[in-house]
Amino acid sequence: MKTYQVGLIGAGFMAKAHAIAYAGLPVFFWPAPALVNRKIIADLTQERADAAAAQFGFEKGTGDWHDIINDPSIDIVDICTPNDAHAEIAIAAAKAGKHILCEKPISRTVDEAKAMYEAVKKAGVTNKLAFNYRMTPAVQLAKKYIGEGALGDILDFRGTYLQDWSADPNSPLSWRFQKKICGSGAFGDIATHVVDMLRFLLGDFTEVNARLATYIKERPVQTGTVDNLGVVKGGENVPKKAVDVDDQCLLTLKCKSGAFGTIEATRNAWGRNNYITFEIHGTKGSVYFNYERRDELQVCFASDPGDRRGFRTVYTGPAHPYGEALWPIPALGIGYTETKIVEMYEFIKAVSEGKQVEPNFEDGYNIELIGEAAFKSASSGLWEKVRSI
Ligand SMILES: NC(=O)c1ccc[n+]([C@@H]2O[C@H](COP(=O)([O-])OP(=O)(O)OC[C@H]3O[C@@H](n4cnc5c(N)ncnc54)[C@H](O)[C@@H]3O)[C@@H](O)[C@H]2O)c1
Repeated sequence: MKTYQVGLIGAGFMAKAHAIAYAGLPVFFWPAPALVNRKIIADLTQERADAAAAQFGFEKGTGDWHDIINDPSIDIVDICTPNDAHAEIAIAAAKAGKHILCEKPISRTVDEAKAMYEAVKKAGVTNKLAFNYRMTPAVQLAKKYIGEGALGDILDFRGTYLQDWSADPNSPLSWRFQKKICGSGAFGDIATHVVDMLRFLLGDFTEVNARLATYIKERPVQTGTVDNLGVVKGGENVPKKAVDVDDQCLLTLKCKSGAFGTIEATRNAWGRNNYITFEIHGTKGSVYFNYERRDELQVCFASDPGDRRGFRTVYTGPAHPYGEALWPIPALGIGYTETKIVEMYEFIKAVSEGKQVEPNFEDGYNIELIGEAAFKSASSGLWEKVRSI
């Protein structure tokens, strides 16, 4: 069995998830399409990289990501840095002929996304963007129902991504609140996941009308490079700086198919943790998904007899997408880890077959163009067309 060598860059939250996924891939998907050896992990300092290598099972650490690009034995570059480094690393990796897994959002700007898309296209390398929520079996089941026509023609939809980890004004001004590092706030950080899922389920969006808001105008300056996602450590005594990204976004979108609906996202909704939902209505039925109950897909079919028509719960299991590889009993429990392992399986399978896979840099670029139209609409107050690639 082929073993690929991976170099991972950015040893924080996502490095942890990707390291588990490399280890878990053959455990769930056996025989595996290929194995992956965790060879090098990079961070900003040698010390942080060495500590991460020990924790996440890599052979060694480096304080300079160029070591990964310049190492001819590395087949795959895995980008888990904050958004400001995605473009530079991905373009260098593509030029060096490496296959690339990159965390979402693809980049800070449309121009960066375009350059990344063009670089992987020119190099012909397999590329994947880590929009893992679409890999949840219940989301894949919704796709199957829609593809089979079980919901009929899609009329409308609504999607949300609501969290509360930044609702405290004393939570720090991490990289997620600095435009020069993240590009945008709630849109890039979380709304893009729902945009990706609904694009996956319903097809391209053509027009957007959007509203954006920044509720907390300044936050305490953070020391250190890792975002501890809202953890407050004496924030009231720390000097503050301005937040220059959106805390909340509300998008009304039109699909190419004619369907329309809304997507809203905020990290300031007290009581909501990872409230990723969508509800889709068609001429023959509806589906509802809530990631906080991710083993379940709520479905309603208009063909059910009137006296028993209504939403019912399908618990995902062996009969559903990826179910045979995952757990032998429905509702045993899909977690964040499983979504990342399924994502890794699809990526490594594509690499081993010399193929492309979705979502990829083209999808990421398209989502940046939706963001561009949304931000334009938020200042013009008008419907704005989504540019095509
Ligand atoms: N798919 C998801 O569900 C999901 C969830 C969280 C974050 N993300 C994305 O993953 C990426 C990383 O987010 P995170 O939460 O892991 O961040 P984090 O703050 O936890 O970790 C980032 C790490 O990258 C390091 N780093 C920064 N610049 C670097 C550089 N130039 N070279 C090497 N290392 C560098 C930092 O020191 C830190 O260790 C972001 O693009 C983010 O949007 C995706």
